[in-house]
Amino acid sequence: MDKHAVKLAPSILAADFARLGQQVAEAEQAGADRIHVDVMDGHFVPNLSMGPAIVKSLRSVTQLPLETHLMVTNPDLFFDEFVAAGSDSLLVHWEGNNNLHRTVQRVKALGKRVGVVINPATPASVLEEILQDVDQVLVMTVNPGFGHQHFIHTTLPKIRRVREMIDAIKPDADLEVDGGIDAETAPLVTDAGANVLVAGTAIFGESLGVAAAMSALRADAGLPR
Ligand code: DX5
Ligand code: ZN
Repeated sequence: MDKHAVKLAPSILAADFARLGQQVAEAEQAGADRIHVDVMDGHFVPNLSMGPAIVKSLRSVTQLPLETHLMVTNPDLFFDEFVAAGSDSLLVHWEGNNNLHRTVQRVKALGKRVGVVINPATPASVLEEILQDVDQVLVMTVNPGFGHQHFIHTTLPKIRRVREMIDAIKPDADLEVDGGIDAETAPLVTDAGANVLVAGTAIFGESLGVAAAMSALRADAGLPR
């Protein structure tokens, strides 16, 4: 992977919600590629987080694409609301979706970017038939539901396999990774072929501030600043 092409997607799950607009603006100024919004329903994952109201508020403070990671049962029910709020891309899980092709087509019909997400225990092979229809793949490198978890190293061979599949089937699709990305794990995932890194704690959880944390993450990971 050309590390010059690697992009950062700060996950606001780790942000200080009392200063959310300010922190997102700081991430934008520091060169973030997109803002990652984690939506959890307490059912698909054992945690609650945020909904379309947050996306709507962020829409007025940043020009960056707002990418919406839907960790919810029946994501299709919420597409219209998130699109109306200002989401630019909708990421839906393979797990628990009996009609993934239909779900993906619905997002495309709304004119938004679509990504398919796979959990750590889900093999890369499930992507084979849907890959040609998506703009990105998100490989979970932790079990979804919480920030600040440890990176699961056994996902690395899978990231390599997904990279091979993307190069063969849909070369312009993004390969994004999510969970436990920090200075130590970022070089591992980029070596394996990831080109977009979601990072919450490593960006918003640092006392040195968002811009300095992004700069440090890039430097420690061997990414260009
Ligand atoms: C986990 C979320 C992640 C999370 C990553 O369910 O999908 O986006 O915010 O947080 P860190 O970077 O702290 O592991
Ligand atoms: Zn996420």
